[in-house]
Amino acid sequence: MTKNIAVLVSGGGTNLQALIDAQDRGEIIGGQITAVISSASDAYALERAQKAGIPGYVLARADYPSTQAMTQALVEKLRQLDIQLVVMAGFMTIVTGELFQAYENAVLNIHPSLIPSFCGKGCYGLHVHEKALAYGVKLSGATVHFVTEECDAGPIVLQKAVEVLPDDTPEVLQRRIMEQCEWKILPQAVSLFCQDRLKVEGRTVRVL
Ligand code: GAR
Repeated sequence: MTKNIAVLVSGGGTNLQALIDAQDRGEIIGGQITAVISSASDAYALERAQKAGIPGYVLARADYPSTQAMTQALVEKLRQLDIQLVVMAGFMTIVTGELFQAYENAVLNIHPSLIPSFCGKGCYGLHVHEKALAYGVKLSGATVHFVTEECDAGPIVLQKAVEVLPDDTPEVLQRRIMEQCEWKILPQAVSLFCQDRLKVEGRTVRVL
């Protein structure tokens, strides 16, 4: 049976676009993006969803008394929409354990570094690349992992690396990592999940 996919976004949505494009090329086998949920009503990602004919929803932290109440509303919405896979694609809002209890090993996140480097609380977006450049690493990249309660610490599904070049700015490095890593491994991981080809064994994910 085809899995219904919800993509959670907060901003520009280039990773959402990569998923939509992959879907249009027939590369998301066994799955269909049926909802885009944004933490911000003005996220450009919502326009991308609309253009692709995918229903968009807004779920803002400010509309709820607590992070837990917001997470409960999110889980309720996901259940209502009969979602089987949740993809965090540039989703910048912290959620509580209710999500991972309801969707155990069924929430994927894309992070713009080679985890366990440059990740964890406060390490998101451009900050990640600033830290990588400040540290002087020669390689960086992106990671798709299952989301667990501990920030950026869940089992790793796919990683891809690129070279860091001498004159890189955070923006230039971010763009290289998006183009060459994120936009490739996120659709791949989603397709593998939808084909039931990801088996989680402790911290290790076996690709069947
Ligand atoms: C992406 O680079 C994504 O990896 C990163 O935010 C950007 C969102 O861009 N996510 C994180 O830093 C999560 N910790 P997008 O909205 O264009 O996909």
